[in-house]
Amino acid sequence: SKGTYPFFMLKEIDEQPIVMHRLVDAYTDDEGQVSIDSDLLAAMKRADRLYIVAAGTSYHAGLVGQALFEKLAKVPAEAYLASEFGYHQPLLSERPFFIFLTQSGETADIRQVLVKIKAQGFPSLTVTNVGSSTLAREADYQLLLHAGPEIAVASTKAYTAQIAAEALLAKALGEVKAIPEAAQFDVVHQLGLASTAQQALIEQKDLIHQWATDLFATTRNAFYIGRGTDYYVSLEASLKLKEISYVQAEGFAAGELKHGTIALIEKDTPLVAFISDPETAAHTRSNADEIAARGAKVLRIVTQAQAQDEDQIVIPDIDPLLAPLLSIIPAQLLAYYTSFDRGYDVDRPRNLAKSVTVE
Ligand code: M6R
Repeated sequence: SKGTYPFFMLKEIDEQPIVMHRLVDAYTDDEGQVSIDSDLLAAMKRADRLYIVAAGTSYHAGLVGQALFEKLAKVPAEAYLASEFGYHQPLLSERPFFIFLTQSGETADIRQVLVKIKAQGFPSLTVTNVGSSTLAREADYQLLLHAGPEIAVASTKAYTAQIAAEALLAKALGEVKAIPEAAQFDVVHQLGLASTAQQALIEQKDLIHQWATDLFATTRNAFYIGRGTDYYVSLEASLKLKEISYVQAEGFAAGELKHGTIALIEKDTPLVAFISDPETAAHTRSNADEIAARGAKVLRIVTQAQAQDEDQIVIPDIDPLLAPLLSIIPAQLLAYYTSFDRGYDVDRPRNLAKSVTVE
């Protein structure tokens, strides 16, 4: 039940800090060490490339996963849209391993990929919130997200749970492969920090609601920018806004704006800039300034380490690989309040179903 919440989406946003702890509990042993099915890790260790296949929000979590697996486990990893992969299978590496990310475990686009790669004899893992689902049953291995039922059509806690699960898995795989970066990455500590920081951001609901009003109350379009994982967060943030508030929103790699999209910027066009990546923070900031100079209303969501006085939403510091666990929270709330204030049924947006069981 949604208890005193007006919509499940808000309840599910609020549950994210707890889900971080549940995942840590599920995938650590009594000594607090990460512990994941050793057969799964052995199968992944044999792989020369990870193919992460997903749709929608889960695909956006998969994009973040690429960086986690490459940095911590030193294995090339790439996320693919299931609906594209199914019919345009790329040339595969010699020893591929498939990771299917799916909250519901029932997405038809993913299932058709699973059927095809199984026929080719390749190993697979389904990371899902529903242990009894079709994709959980049909893959060789399963990891559960422990997010609890997600009812709202707009996915929130499954996204952060998927990123946390990928972090735990990448850490475990990196350790099995004796990768120094994995040894140094204290995932349990980092996910604890993430949980506390998410809670702190959730407690700023009123401020974020105010920003939703200022930026999006009457707009017909909106832009989100970032670089690296901040770019992937931009994609997810824009999907959240468009699916529940019907505002046309686009997420862009910040450096690409000047290659065309900047032509769309007018007076009062809302733009949200995510700035957490230390390597590119200055570049994204100057891209945002450029947009502001053309009259856009700019909201910067910035990690403490990169923050300047002018920044409106500051997120606590965390390992940059895990910044998406935090920066998505204000973006989810911006989308929620925009939809709510416009009087829409936040949990059941038009034209959409919770799980998409047709191709
Ligand atoms: O159940 P899945 O994770 O496979 O679902 C994938 C997408 O259909 C889903 O993430 C969809 O994009 C959501 N409406 C996003 O909020």
